[in-house]
Amino acid sequence: MQTHIEKPFYRPRRLRAHENLRRLIRETTLSVDDLIYPMFVVHGHNTATEISAMPGCYQYSVDNLANAAKELAALGIPGTILFGIPDTKDALGSEAYAEDGIIQQAVRAIKDAVPNLLVMTDVCLCEYTDHGHCGVIEAGEVQNDATLALLVKESLSHARAGADVIAPSDMMDGRVRAIRAALDENGYENVPIMAYAAKYASAFYGPFREAAESTPQFGDRRSYQMDPANAEEALREVALDIEEGADILMVKPALSYLDVIHQVKTEFQVPVAAYNVSGEYAMVKAAAQNGWIDEQRVALEVLTGIKRAGADMILTYFAKSVVEWLNS
Ligand code: PBG
Repeated sequence: MQTHIEKPFYRPRRLRAHENLRRLIRETTLSVDDLIYPMFVVHGHNTATEISAMPGCYQYSVDNLANAAKELAALGIPGTILFGIPDTKDALGSEAYAEDGIIQQAVRAIKDAVPNLLVMTDVCLCEYTDHGHCGVIEAGEVQNDATLALLVKESLSHARAGADVIAPSDMMDGRVRAIRAALDENGYENVPIMAYAAKYASAFYGPFREAAESTPQFGDRRSYQMDPANAEEALREVALDIEEGADILMVKPALSYLDVIHQVKTEFQVPVAAYNVSGEYAMVKAAAQNGWIDEQRVALEVLTGIKRAGADMILTYFAKSVVEWLNS
């Protein structure tokens, strides 16, 4: 005897049968408007050193960085975020706030070459300190309040150089308020702050630390960056940063924290940025180089997922490739 199989009444597949129907019902679209491309800048002339764990990404000298910035503008990418590698490191990270420091030179060069490209600057000390931590060390510990004064100096020097957006990534308490107040007092009330609000102590930063030469020389960052197990705490961090005057709130990394991105977007109606970090990039690159996955499809799927979770913008090393893929 034959079993009777009831026919489905509602058939979701109807809407998947034609590419144009799929286009009409598509809920999330990744576009060039969503992208921020991070770049690394070093002292010297006419150098571009590829970062081994981040194929396709380079440490540029200032002159070459300006050319790289022109390329971003030509692709229509709205902005870049800059990371600097100083000539000398010391206990207080002096080059971070030197008027002629590497970032200050880089910002001026880009603003000269392509005034329209948004230049965001990462505000942190870890690339500039000889111990590799994101703040002042006393008695073997990162001192919160003593660090704030240096972050303020660094932010102001970036603004003076012409930075369009200030992005503190240090995770010290109270830094957004301190930076906001200093920017306002000095005539930079229109310079927005993009706060790394929920930044986790993540193993996914590995390749970046090679690129930015910022590996901590002792210990780790768990006394200031967040525990990967916590999401409620991320909401408290975001609430604090909004109250302190942050304009754009960032979750970092992105891929292992999609729930956090989603909760931040649903809980607070604010612009949310997600950082698709170096390790997330390196994994896709490495697997693709082995022929194990299709780089383009995986990268677009990852970035679409980050956007679907609630990100308004994505900092990603894939930005330039994405524009090429979307245009082809
Ligand atoms: C600086 C900083 C880091 C990243 C962005 N800003 C590294 C860290 O906190 O150790 C990581 C970015 C990436 O991995 O792509 N504090």
